[in-house]
Amino acid sequence: MIARDRLQSEQFFHDRQAQGRTASFADDNKLRFGDNWYLDHETWVRPAMDRLGDVTDLPVLDYGCGHGMAAVVLARRGARVTAFDLSHGYLSEARRRAEANNVPITFLQADAEHLPFADGSFARVWGNAVLHHLDMRLAARELHRVLQPGGIAVFCEPWGENPLLAWARRRLPYRGKERTPDEQPLRRRHLRALREVFPSLQFEGFQLLSMARRVLRSGRIVSGLEWCDGRLLRLAPSLSHFCRYVVLTLRR
Ligand SMILES: C[S@@+](CC[C@H](N)C(=O)[O-])C[C@H]1O[C@@H](n2cnc3c(N)ncnc32)[C@H](O)[C@@H]1O
Repeated sequence: MIARDRLQSEQFFHDRQAQGRTASFADDNKLRFGDNWYLDHETWVRPAMDRLGDVTDLPVLDYGCGHGMAAVVLARRGARVTAFDLSHGYLSEARRRAEANNVPITFLQADAEHLPFADGSFARVWGNAVLHHLDMRLAARELHRVLQPGGIAVFCEPWGENPLLAWARRRLPYRGKERTPDEQPLRRRHLRALREVFPSLQFEGFQLLSMARRVLRSGRIVSGLEWCDGRLLRLAPSLSHFCRYVVLTLRR
């Protein structure tokens, strides 16, 4: 598929998905939320955002912002936030969310592979579940360009090197399974492309056994599995390559 078609299909998919969400946010009250709700909705989000450090007064980019919750949390931490996405539909939800939560955020429509920002515009970049939609070589080059020297970018991405998980993703029915035709969980080859631009890339895995929380209700079993994950990943960090999600920390 050529790049233009891929972008159109990504945009179409996400606009339609955003359209499907508008009814649930008819009332502005439903767009208000507390930071903890977002930070704890998946186990990697809070530790990943900690990797950005203190963002007070820093220019921060929410990269592929989607619904814009991370942008709101970052703005509430005192960052000067710019947020972009390809999807007009998601951008309009994100704009409404920023207004409902009373934070100033600059939103714009943009393609991550051709960013409309000057070199070194951002001290921090945050992205959740977005790199795996992109051409990694183009995206990495642009990301490096817009990051300030000494700047940090943190991405949380689905990971695709666990064969059992890859089978389950293909075969099992589960909530939130809808995918664009071109996205694919990140693989080692994507990391190699990122490392060419960000040689000091740090990689941390999340949800090894506790990925079972996708099908189990949270409770004692899931807490037990999370405890085991903590131990196992500390003892054998290479097990990260079997996790459900990874957090990537990139420094310019
Ligand atoms: C799985 S969603 C994640 C959204 C949000 N970051 C979150 O945490 O929910 C992927 C997002 O990437 C956006 N996207 C896909 N390709 C893009 C591109 N080339 N440039 C900018 N955004 C893109 C989609 O529109 C969508 O909002």
